[in-house]
Amino acid sequence: MSATVSDKLLAWYDAHARDLPWRAQPGANAADPYRVWLSEVMLQQTTVAAVRPRFEAWVARWPTLAALAAASDADVMAAWAGLGYYARARNLLQCARAVVAEHDSAFPTAEAELRALPGLGDYTAAAIAAIAFGRRAVVIDANVKRVVARLFADDGATVRALADRLTPDARTGDFAQAMMDLGSAICTPRAPKCLLCPLRDDCAGFASGMPEAFPAKAVKKAKPQRHGTAFWLTRGRDVLLVRRPPSGLLGGMRALPSGHWTEDASDRAGAPVDAAWRDTGRSVTHVFTHFRLELRLASAEIDAQDVAGQWWPIDDLDSAGLPTVFAKAAARMKE
Ligand code: ADE
Repeated sequence: MSATVSDKLLAWYDAHARDLPWRAQPGANAADPYRVWLSEVMLQQTTVAAVRPRFEAWVARWPTLAALAAASDADVMAAWAGLGYYARARNLLQCARAVVAEHDSAFPTAEAELRALPGLGDYTAAAIAAIAFGRRAVVIDANVKRVVARLFADDGATVRALADRLTPDARTGDFAQAMMDLGSAICTPRAPKCLLCPLRDDCAGFASGMPEAFPAKAVKKAKPQRHGTAFWLTRGRDVLLVRRPPSGLLGGMRALPSGHWTEDASDRAGAPVDAAWRDTGRSVTHVFTHFRLELRLASAEIDAQDVAGQWWPIDDLDSAGLPTVFAKAAARMKE
């Protein structure tokens, strides 16, 4: 009998798997569920290259689930700074505490129970069940979707059923990660390296001569442009930071005070105090998932004590855990 797609893919993985700090060696005992969970949450919206050093620093600071569950909200939010999509950090901590409180500090192993934990969607629950616990699960991220769609020359609509058909009962975690590695190294969005692909002979996309046509591209909507003002309020060598409301964009993160971000560029409300605000003529731009932001920078100095927020040494802003848009704004003000 000829080798199946999963046999071929696993043989390729045994030779070419990326060495990543959260992974077990191919075919070895399952990796530590805490590390698998943490890496999968970090990787949801962030690249492997960006995650790798942040993952290492994180597990050095909080080596176990119990250590993380005991951390303060403020420390965890600050440690996530720069990774983006901050709801992930809030959910991470809630999930750690839920596993400690409700599951005796051990992750449940069934996909459905994992799915019920804070922040775990279909993808993450399936990935943890398969990678950490060796449970059969159909794991679909963007890389997997592209590989499967091309294998079957599918527009993308049927990927779940097709992936289910390919997924083996054994080594399902290695299979999922092999699909991801193949998608990242060979079956790339543009200019896939089909001549190096172990699945070429099985691939309807390759046979069609236009593998890049699968899956069909979603039509991207143009992002609206929003405008806002960030307020750089200094007192001596300190600057005022505030904590953003717990939910919503950048929720729970330390930030520069800033008003509403609207599509009206003339709306300049939101100063934290009455002061002699100057328009500095400086601004920063940042692209969020659903809009682009231009943040103008206004500055003022005061000597009052009673301002809501936290005075932070300007020379030590790196330790404040500011999300990227505000770190950019601070850097611009320090120029
Ligand atoms: N992207 C998301 N999870 C991954 C994993 N476990 N290995 C490689 N890339 C990934």
